[in-house]
Amino acid sequence: MIGLGAGEPDFDTPDHVKEAAAKAMKDGCTKYTDVPGTIELREAVCAKFERENDLIYTPDQIQVACGGKQNIYNAIMASVEEGDEVIIPAPYWVSYPDIVLLAGGTPVIVVCELENGFKIEPEDLEAAITPKTKWLVLNSPSNPTGAAYSKDQMRALAEVLMRHPHVWVMADDIYEHIVYDGFDFSSIAQVEPGLYSRTATLNGLSKSFSMTGWRIGYLAASKKIAKACNKMQGQITSGANCIAQQAAIKALIEPPSKIKYMVEEFKVRRDLIIKLLNQIEGFKLDDPPSGAFYIFPDISSYFGKEIKGKMIENSSDLAMLLLEVAHVATVPGDAFGSPNCLRISYAASRENIEDAVERIKSLLT
Ligand SMILES: Cc1ncc(COP(=O)(O)O)c(C=O)c1O
Repeated sequence: MIGLGAGEPDFDTPDHVKEAAAKAMKDGCTKYTDVPGTIELREAVCAKFERENDLIYTPDQIQVACGGKQNIYNAIMASVEEGDEVIIPAPYWVSYPDIVLLAGGTPVIVVCELENGFKIEPEDLEAAITPKTKWLVLNSPSNPTGAAYSKDQMRALAEVLMRHPHVWVMADDIYEHIVYDGFDFSSIAQVEPGLYSRTATLNGLSKSFSMTGWRIGYLAASKKIAKACNKMQGQITSGANCIAQQAAIKALIEPPSKIKYMVEEFKVRRDLIIKLLNQIEGFKLDDPPSGAFYIFPDISSYFGKEIKGKMIENSSDLAMLLLEVAHVATVPGDAFGSPNCLRISYAASRENIEDAVERIKSLLT
């Protein structure tokens, strides 16, 4: 079985980060921390935002949680009430709509087409906003598509949002550092300072630093939003793991060049998988994605066809066929609100990528 379904880097956590954790344990860092995170970590987060994103926050605007997911959960649970709407561009990361539903809110899914690079168009955003809209969730670079908004594209969305002061923005920047071809990452509050007070900027260590198991994510927002998130977290998990918080400080104070080797390898794999998948006629791809480590081809040309005695009606059927016959694991697009597509992760070795695509090719052509 070759797994191309993973949503996490296949690299080990960098040594300097692991060493910081070992030192923290030796130094007796084993107790509860403040619920929003240690002051040292929150200061490191503020320094990171200032250095890398031109965003000025103070530690009382920062919430450190047990992974990026908990910050999304905290923020939605603390703010969304029955009847509130949350705009979620599709393809979306699986958890957004479910968390909104858990809070009693209504996910408003805006379908973004492959032809538009899977990005929401300003006029579609405008059309989706109602008096009940609470949040827009903006994930760039995106899971599952790898699509990332340029500064100009971000500015065009910000222009719409400036006309609707009741809409808050959740900027999920967790793939910030995994970008290619010189892509110039920007976060929405950085591009439009007028949105600063109603934007929650979310980031974390899981993807960029290959620290998925450490469970550290951070949120920066107005004091009001940060305080509400803190209240939620105080009754769910309390502070994040104290050793992981010490390791996170080390990760954040080092320059991003320390993790460049992972991004460079991801880029080679991205180019490899695109080259190989382009040899399979039924896989429709857009321009190479600017970030993250996923390819999201449209595979709907297989729908209605029988392959190896199995009728392919949707992406789940195709994913199951690839799993059972080619022994390659992928994730059907239905999970991300795009039933015509398939998510293929290239967080796998070059050898496995070559082998997996060869198996897919011989099954489907
Ligand atoms: C877009 C996006 N946001 C947030 C998360 C959550 O990250 P964490 O593992 O830090 O909770 C993920 C993880 O897959 C993700 O893809």
